[in-house]
Amino acid sequence: MKTIKQNSDFLHIGQKILRWYAQNARILPWRTAQNPYNVWVSEIILQQTRVEQGLEYYINFTNRFKDIESLAKADIDEVLLYWKGLGYYSRAINLHKAAQQIMQDYQSVFPNNYHEILKLKGIGKYTAAAISSICFSEKRPAVDGNFYRVLSRIFADDFDISKTKAHDYFSELALLIMPDRDFGDFNQAIMDLGANICKPKNPSCDICPVHADCLAFQFGKTADFPVKTKKIKPENMNLIYYFVRYENSFLIKQRDDSSIWKKLYDFPDKINEFLEKDIIKEWTLSTGGVGRRAVKYKYNPDFCYSIGVSIDEEKIRFIVINTIGKILESKIVETCNEDFITFFEKNLKDFILEIDPKYLSKTIGVGISIPGIYNKENHFLE
Ligand code: ADE
Repeated sequence: MKTIKQNSDFLHIGQKILRWYAQNARILPWRTAQNPYNVWVSEIILQQTRVEQGLEYYINFTNRFKDIESLAKADIDEVLLYWKGLGYYSRAINLHKAAQQIMQDYQSVFPNNYHEILKLKGIGKYTAAAISSICFSEKRPAVDGNFYRVLSRIFADDFDISKTKAHDYFSELALLIMPDRDFGDFNQAIMDLGANICKPKNPSCDICPVHADCLAFQFGKTADFPVKTKKIKPENMNLIYYFVRYENSFLIKQRDDSSIWKKLYDFPDKINEFLEKDIIKEWTLSTGGVGRRAVKYKYNPDFCYSIGVSIDEEKIRFIVINTIGKILESKIVETCNEDFITFFEKNLKDFILEIDPKYLSKTIGVGISIPGIYNKENHFLE
């Protein structure tokens, strides 16, 4: 049975974490900017991406789209281009829609409190809490996987984080240790602690500022927390690509929003009779075109992969891409004067032989998966 925990018993833990942050905070551009637009963009990029990977995307994105207005007025294909390789493209689509929402409903001024921020497209409780605490000093714990891990270990709490009530439960626990000041710093301290010390595997407990307060550490049980029981269930999906050539061009099309690889470019999976005579190949790689995806589009990125190809006049870029569109391996070859198709097929085969076999065994197709640089309709890629 759990005992009722009192706030005053645990506040010193949060104070130690804040003191640690004052000495050890990572210097990051959105922390210096402290402006809601920049913090918002950083939070959306970092939702499924580590800081080291997201930093360059953040810099490029905010250099091109400097404020709400420039993002709202941009063409979605250009926004997607700046997201290329990050994965989870619906994040970029929602950023763009929310920028337009702010222009229309908030006179172009970013809303300044948790409840209004929560109304923006693509913003959930975690992001609203992060922005309102960092930019508007609201006392809101930004509870995500880092918080689950840190709190469940400190309290050796076995509450199952896959339960729908987990967010409310851990938000209450978070308030037990959250000091009465510097709420944004406190949330960011947990993010840094979770990323660099209280890591999922092999946490660096020896240098953790709160190891003396951490029950899981004291019991030698950090690996047992957090507790998570529910696994994502995979489902079968057939993917067949047609490889249609006209001279040195290939037919591609942009995917819609209904399934995986939203808005990314693919070789077509259907063709009309007129085109049938031009078909060179129906591509199905390794698993015979059968791949797996998670139910309800809650993807486990590691269920399946696709080989992506982008071609321009001088080079062909081959990539391995996962279900969320993140690039895992990549190779660029310069084109030469050989017959293009022979050259392309040889290099595709070489690439397939070079990549980590673990990707290949779950590869479900070949596609062009780079957004933004082509027309929207089915068309020939020159
Ligand atoms: N991850 C998500 N938000 C972050 C932030 N503001 N700083 C560092 N890591 C983060």
